[in-house]
Amino acid sequence: MTDSPGTQVPNVYAGILGAGSEEFHRRDQELAHALLTAVPSASLVAHHTRAFVLSAAEACVRQHGMTQILDLGAGRPTARNVHDVAHAADPAVNICYVDHSRAAVAALAEQGPTDSDGTVSYLVADISDPDTVLRSPAVRETIDLTRPAAVLLGAVIPYITNADVPDMLKRYTDALAPGSILVLSHGTYDFDRPKVRRMQEVYESFGIPSHMRGENELRALMDHAGVTVLPPGIVATNQWRPEGTVEADASEACMYGLWGRTG
Ligand SMILES: C[S@@+](CC[C@H](N)C(=O)[O-])C[C@H]1O[C@@H](n2cnc3c(N)ncnc32)[C@H](O)[C@@H]1O
Repeated sequence: MTDSPGTQVPNVYAGILGAGSEEFHRRDQELAHALLTAVPSASLVAHHTRAFVLSAAEACVRQHGMTQILDLGAGRPTARNVHDVAHAADPAVNICYVDHSRAAVAALAEQGPTDSDGTVSYLVADISDPDTVLRSPAVRETIDLTRPAAVLLGAVIPYITNADVPDMLKRYTDALAPGSILVLSHGTYDFDRPKVRRMQEVYESFGIPSHMRGENELRALMDHAGVTVLPPGIVATNQWRPEGTVEADASEACMYGLWGRTG
């Protein structure tokens, strides 16, 4: 599989989060620059959603006892990563990182853990094809689908514009054991539509379409997938905490975060 235009997403995202490297290509730099010029606070959006996904991943292990994590659309490594927070809670957690960007997966593998008890695997794949992902050796060697698993979908669903997303999600949740936890963050117009439109327009000008969803659409998506949303519900990523919500300006986040249980 060759890198798609979406490959730019992890580079830009990691670059905004301060994890840019010598591999941070010119085009990605141009996109990050255009994004921060159009929306100077875009860095906060990235910080909040990254903090959300790491906090939820850690809580999946600490609070829900998950011992296996499937990270779909994992992105490039940042200062802290899913394996860092998961293994701090339980070094035996197995993790499978999946992204369609070869560069992102290679960077993750380079920075992956070397001394954990858990197995970490890496897969270059398009997550809009659940059968290929779920049947891959990388998933099969790390994720036992007969036992509950945490599935992370951090800031990736909006970029899946060429597949039936409700059907795709349902195919993942149908394959999971009851009691699995789905973690999802998703861009929305609900908090600051003009800002999100400006960000989308920059991505579109670089050939990367995206689709935002409102709270009701996300609730319908979870219902269709058979996922019961857990407290604190569908809230802005900067308000979400595993134990409840905190007060924060949702327009700084412009994304929803949620977690829910299957089965
Ligand atoms: C904004 S990053 C989010 C990274 C990480 N999940 C997080 O929440 O911090 C989105 C990632 O999704 C990946 N992606 C987009 N569409 C994808 C697809 N169809 N299959 C696999 N990965 C995809 C991109 O390559 C990128 O790494």
